[in-house]
Amino acid sequence: LEGDTGQLTFPLMLTVGTAVIGSLQFGYNTGVINAPQKIIEAFYNETWTDRYNDNIPKTTMTTLWSLSVAIFSVGGIIGSFSVGLFVNRFGRRNSMLMANVLAFIAAALMGFSKMGASWEMLISGRFVVGLYSGLSTGFVPMYVGEVAPTALRGALGTLHQLGIVIGILMAQIFGMEAIMGNATMWPFLLGFTFIPALLQCCLLPFCPESPRFLLIIRNEENKAKAVLKKLRGMTDVSADMQEMKEESRQMMREKKVTIPELFRSPLYRQPMVIAIMLQLSQQLSGINAVFYYSTKIFEKAGVQQPVYATIGAGVVNTAFTVVSLFVVERAGRRSLHLLGLLGMAGSAVLMTIALALLEKYDWMSYMSIVAIFAFVAFFEIGPGPIPWFIVAELFSQGPRPSAFAVAGFSNWTANFIVGMCFQYVEELCGAYVFVIFTVFLLCFFVFTYFKVPETKGRTFDEISAGFRQAASGAEKHLPEELNSLGADSQL
Ligand code: GLC
Repeated sequence: LEGDTGQLTFPLMLTVGTAVIGSLQFGYNTGVINAPQKIIEAFYNETWTDRYNDNIPKTTMTTLWSLSVAIFSVGGIIGSFSVGLFVNRFGRRNSMLMANVLAFIAAALMGFSKMGASWEMLISGRFVVGLYSGLSTGFVPMYVGEVAPTALRGALGTLHQLGIVIGILMAQIFGMEAIMGNATMWPFLLGFTFIPALLQCCLLPFCPESPRFLLIIRNEENKAKAVLKKLRGMTDVSADMQEMKEESRQMMREKKVTIPELFRSPLYRQPMVIAIMLQLSQQLSGINAVFYYSTKIFEKAGVQQPVYATIGAGVVNTAFTVVSLFVVERAGRRSLHLLGLLGMAGSAVLMTIALALLEKYDWMSYMSIVAIFAFVAFFEIGPGPIPWFIVAELFSQGPRPSAFAVAGFSNWTANFIVGMCFQYVEELCGAYVFVIFTVFLLCFFVFTYFKVPETKGRTFDEISAGFRQAASGAEKHLPEELNSLGADSQL
């Protein structure tokens, strides 16, 4: 780690800033269907009436709307799983550039859906922008993790999440009735995705390719060195080069690791299980029940101005991501994740109480606002940002693309399940719907406590060496020793 000054230079900022436009797109399209639900449902109803001379049945509407929300994550599942097809073939940066084609197509499909009187267009657009977002959730953390100096990896990695939450907030603000959340403007609200895509296409050519990709995959040492010098703002980048070569040597030994091998090899099983569980903890926490449906949740909780409460949640969400940004390199990943999960569980209990007692006490509607805000705040302390960037930390170059594919797939599948099922489960369980999330949160807390090691301040190579040691130790000794790699082990 010596010689790693972790300087935040202008080229590094530009590079990371441009990459996280992809995160912003993901966030924007996560948040954009929340506020205008009623207006777009009215459009569905009109279109239905025009076509079939009848009002749309209530269950059909629930299905069509849930589908419009959740098909985004189906795109995400496929997109994130395809990350490995691109990153080594075209490079990290060019992969990001190419993905924008999808964003343009999606913007057109959604933006013209009203003109075409077609919810099919809107739903396909949501699918295509989901594809783009799925790719982004692999490309961006991988690229950012690879250009960042070790001492800033967590903070810069958190910028991916910051991009996401700013995207959500923008969508919520633009979605206000006075801006674009109304019957005439909503196509622009959805078509807005065009603008960040254009911006990213203009800026990416000025960003360098990942030096790790150049050195380790392409074997272009001089190019890698030149990029590092530019990013680090120093002429002596030998410490960084040294570390990358170490990773490269390791890669020669392990070659490209396929997805089945990730699960078969005792070397990777442990970090893979950790990566998957962290992704699941992020999504099954129920965070997207809030970001897809909060307006409706607040409405049911008796809140007078549900759209404003939704925007409030977006503001809290952004503020606490910034908090996490500043503490993640000091407090460490593990402790923040634990704190976040526990706090969310507490907030979910509070939310349940608020919903259950709503009939008795009017002021419970305020309590529900407090509960949701706390829920979101604790989410951003750990479970929001950490799972995204920890995957790059848990795996070295050989297994990294496959690991990203599996992690992304798990994340998006869980995202889909929550987005698709929440409204139905809520109709069944009423006030007690958040109890389900509480149970999940507590389980993930226990898992993290026993299994997740700290990765702060350690190089990629040191981290994977830790898992290697643990795996070979376990082969020689008792199998349970694999399990002891966790909380207290310094690796
Ligand atoms: C994370 C999740 C995403 C969620 C967001 C909320 O990035 O992956 O699904 O909407 O946080 O801030």
